[in-house]
Amino acid sequence: MLRSALLNVMIGAARKAARSLKRDFGEVEHLQVSLKGPANFVTAADRRAEEILRAELAKARPGYGFLGEEGGRQEGADKTHCWIVDPLDGTTNFLHSIPQFAISIALEREGTIVAGVIYNPATEELFTAERGKGAFLNDKRLRVAARKRLAEAVVACGLPHLGRGDLALFRKEFAAVQEKVAGLRRFGSAALDLAWVAAGRVDAFWERDLSPWDTAAGIVIVREAGGYVTDLDGGDAIAAKKQVIAGNEVLHKELLGMLKEARSQGDFGIS
Ligand code: IPD
Ligand code: CA
Ligand code: CA
Repeated sequence: MLRSALLNVMIGAARKAARSLKRDFGEVEHLQVSLKGPANFVTAADRRAEEILRAELAKARPGYGFLGEEGGRQEGADKTHCWIVDPLDGTTNFLHSIPQFAISIALEREGTIVAGVIYNPATEELFTAERGKGAFLNDKRLRVAARKRLAEAVVACGLPHLGRGDLALFRKEFAAVQEKVAGLRRFGSAALDLAWVAAGRVDAFWERDLSPWDTAAGIVIVREAGGYVTDLDGGDAIAAKKQVIAGNEVLHKELLGMLKEARSQGDFGIS
């Protein structure tokens, strides 16, 4: 399969960081039994992976800016391009030896995400997309699921952490959706949730309180697979509002309507 120079740079960086994460993932299993626990070890693994990504991407495109979960934003000489990177999405899974985690790399050009790579080192599944050029899982072209009925749909979601303000709202939304769909799932990596919408494994996905690095690569991958991705008002402010909903044209609209309806039924201090 012929890939652009840009995607090759992103994939090369992802694979290099993945080798480091995979070694560390192997170690986590042994650490589970130690009293100190593997939390610090995982933080170190996370940082190591981000450093590799930062170095590899800077080597190939020296002027670009960089926004990473661990190290924050670094301006580049080229103000039109910025990498948006989560070196380890699905930290809790990683910590528990659950092989559902990913490296997520996106390139933003003048405010638009133009390329995305999401790589799960444990399964070696590589999701890629470039604007206007389609989305792929390894070498296979991706297409969102064609299902049009919610009653047949499997929908992924996020769960608010304990102590976060929107638990009541989530429960309302969850109850409304649960009644109408074939199944609800919580996998624990927002980047992979979006990639799985693109791959047609899940029919739709929504989550609140996400950061730009959780969603950036997934946005272009879903869109290039023919799907719809918006904020929870149906607009484009995914990063600003920190929320996302994705699916095919029909189910995206249905789910969006149901969630709006659910939150209109109470005062959750959130619009
Ligand atoms: C988290 C994962 C998870 C989502 C959380 C994110 P992290 O990212 O994407 O699925 O529910 O809100 O923060 O912390 O593992 O990089
Ligand atoms: Ca994340
Ligand atoms: Ca992370």
